[in-house]
Amino acid sequence: MPQPEREQWSTRLGFVMAAVGSAVGLGNMWRFPYLTAENGGAAFVLLYILTTVFIGLPIMLAEFTLGRGSKRSPIQALASFGGDGWKPLGGLFVAAGFLILAYYGVIAGWTFRYAADAVFHGFAGSPAARFQAAAGGWDAVLWQVLFMGATIAIVAAGVRGGIERTSLVLMPALALIVIGLDVYAATLPGAGAGYAFYLKTSFADVLSWRVLADAAGQAFFSLSLGMGAMLTYASYLSRDDDLPQEAVVIAGSNFAFAFVAGLMVFPIIFAFGLSGEVGESAVGALFISLPKAFASIGAAGRIVGFLFFTAMLVAALTSALSLLEVVASSAIDGLGWSRRTAALVCGGLITALGIPAAFDLDILDLMDKVAGNVLLLVGGFFLAIFVGWVAPDPTGEVRKGASSTGWLPAWRGFLRWVVPALLLIVLWFSTQEAWDSLTTLVSHLTGG
Ligand code: TRP
Repeated sequence: MPQPEREQWSTRLGFVMAAVGSAVGLGNMWRFPYLTAENGGAAFVLLYILTTVFIGLPIMLAEFTLGRGSKRSPIQALASFGGDGWKPLGGLFVAAGFLILAYYGVIAGWTFRYAADAVFHGFAGSPAARFQAAAGGWDAVLWQVLFMGATIAIVAAGVRGGIERTSLVLMPALALIVIGLDVYAATLPGAGAGYAFYLKTSFADVLSWRVLADAAGQAFFSLSLGMGAMLTYASYLSRDDDLPQEAVVIAGSNFAFAFVAGLMVFPIIFAFGLSGEVGESAVGALFISLPKAFASIGAAGRIVGFLFFTAMLVAALTSALSLLEVVASSAIDGLGWSRRTAALVCGGLITALGIPAAFDLDILDLMDKVAGNVLLLVGGFFLAIFVGWVAPDPTGEVRKGASSTGWLPAWRGFLRWVVPALLLIVLWFSTQEAWDSLTTLVSHLTGG
């Protein structure tokens, strides 16, 4: 099939911003702070940094290498380095993108609605009832469709004109909003207790395989690894950039966003005496406790709430772009579709797949556990094996443009042995979690 001229990022900064946009998402704004508070505070932060460095960075570099080296979307990239037998792994990536964006779009729709609520109604009234209304049924579908429509429109506008331009504007804006809310939160009377809850150090808590698995799984999800998103973005690189350096900048920014998100969330919750509710459920704290806090701030709470949910929405949007790009670029390269058709058809199908999750939180949870935990880790496992053992000369590809190269043999050794072994441990735990979600869903469907 004749390949049309492949699109490219216009600047190095554009690529880095788009990749940071992919990484920084709902996983940073809430999942990281929550895991940290639950699992040993500052000790967990340390563990998370270690798993980012020793599992996240090697895999990110592996994805970059395949993308830039082949200049193809994931399925063809794998085939060009390892033969057609590896195409099913690319198929798994596309499937993961489908499934993740399906439910991610639903949650993003809630944040969209909450941001709009802040403007038009404020947060008065029962927060639980508000969440019920927002998260179940056709209302949820409406906001999901609006969110997906924006995602589709930006991806259809192209790599440079859509994704790059959006990321260059939104990521600095997101940083400003989060820093602003951090400063605001620091002025609240309960701030100290919030920080203490977030970062209270307990090294005993992190000395368990399950906590290691949580940290590694979070690092993996948060860096958008294991489904070819970073691979696809790197395939639009034109010149031979310094890939290791860029990977470090992206992972470092991702960590920074996650860490400072915790500095805004917990002081706000603690300042309004809502700490008792934090342990109940991650989603509940975000969409129920925080709005309660915003309501008790009065008029200013609408502004703070608007900024908070807008930040969530922006973070989710730039992540959704890369999820859709994986699927759409596969249709463009593999089926010869135009970008507009690919964005619209793939985005439309993904939206439809998300509708059951808009009606039932147990379905949403199951999709999250299966795709977000299991499929990504399986994808990462085989990526490590592929670049470690199969691809002919990955270190040669990294060497182009890299400023320091002495550690490259160690990188490959890591991909061969250490990363697959660690990912198997993580998979062991996350498969159990996915199984639990499945049994919950089945018992609730059969028990009425
Ligand atoms: N990194 C995103 C977040 O933290 C979620 C995510 C997981 C993702 N895998 C992805 C985003 C792949 C884009 C592509 O919320």
